[in-house]
Amino acid sequence: MKNIYSNIYNPNSINLNKAKKIIENNSVVVIPTETVYGLAGNAYSNTAVKKIFKLKNRSSLNPLIVHFNNLKDSNKDVVFNDSFLKLYKILCPGPITFILNKKKKSKISKIANAKKRTVAIRFPKHKVARRLLKKLKVPLAAPSANISSKLSPTSSLDVVDEFKGKIKFILDGGKSKIGLESTIIDLTQRPRILRPGFITPEKISKILKKKVKIIKQVKKIKSPGQLKLHYSPGIPIKINTEKSTQGDAVIGFGKKFKIKKNHFNLSKNGSLIEAANNLYKTLRKIKNRGFKSIVVNKIPNIKIGMAINDRLNKASKK
Ligand code: TXA
Ligand code: MG
Repeated sequence: MKNIYSNIYNPNSINLNKAKKIIENNSVVVIPTETVYGLAGNAYSNTAVKKIFKLKNRSSLNPLIVHFNNLKDSNKDVVFNDSFLKLYKILCPGPITFILNKKKKSKISKIANAKKRTVAIRFPKHKVARRLLKKLKVPLAAPSANISSKLSPTSSLDVVDEFKGKIKFILDGGKSKIGLESTIIDLTQRPRILRPGFITPEKISKILKKKVKIIKQVKKIKSPGQLKLHYSPGIPIKINTEKSTQGDAVIGFGKKFKIKKNHFNLSKNGSLIEAANNLYKTLRKIKNRGFKSIVVNKIPNIKIGMAINDRLNKASKK
């Protein structure tokens, strides 16, 4: 089926080869991943990486995640350690990002990792991302394909909603299965979670056989997304409350949440996984319907609910 948007492409082999060419020319493409869509370019190229920062209007201090197809491919760029290898074996490819020390010989653009001595690396599971990575000789720097501080896209149409015609090549990979960004774990010291996600601290602790810390607020920003407004639909959000005023869109969760015109249920069955998947979609829908403010009822702060609350918390900052 031909898409009405001329910048959305079916991920067939002809188009994957086109994407490969674009990346080899140090331009950018949008790729689907199982978490959210990513704005991808050659991680070894300053030219490509600069384009990513510019399109997103991203601070040059905020480093990008570098995506690889497999362990072997990442070996030349980062220093492995035991915790990483244990987690990789069980969780990868999958929705987890590791902060590791960068090798001296690494060719990763210094601009991509904001001149840090560490690099965030990830092995996405989505078939299309993997097929493209396999064709390439370089890793892909890919932040979420949204304008900085705004909602991450979980479908190719969301990417169009974010960037309008500014992005020329979007590989369509359907709806993102998870719908929230990867869990980020810093393994350059005692394991610490910098961003909660689908992979929970419990799961990581079980694999590593030790407790992992969850960093809530950091004084020195490790992940620049940690402090300021982020994941925002562009309208005010109040969280953890049932108090709403007329004209608010109300987000809730579970069976007891009443059906009303301005009510949006993240999961009627009370599934946190479903709620996580619906979060960005729902916020985007509410914004596009013209609501001026959002009220969110309390969402259980367990398992992936922690990731939902993390994003809502940041989206509610001023
Ligand atoms: O699921 C995901 O991780 C998606 C998909 C596309 O892979 N990507 C994503 O990228 O969420 P982005 O750029 O939106 O978020 C990356 C986060 C940022 O908060 C950044 O500060 C942090 O990772 N980060 C990157 N490199 C880092 C480093 N060396 N140390 C600490 N944090 C780092
Ligand atoms: Mg992002």
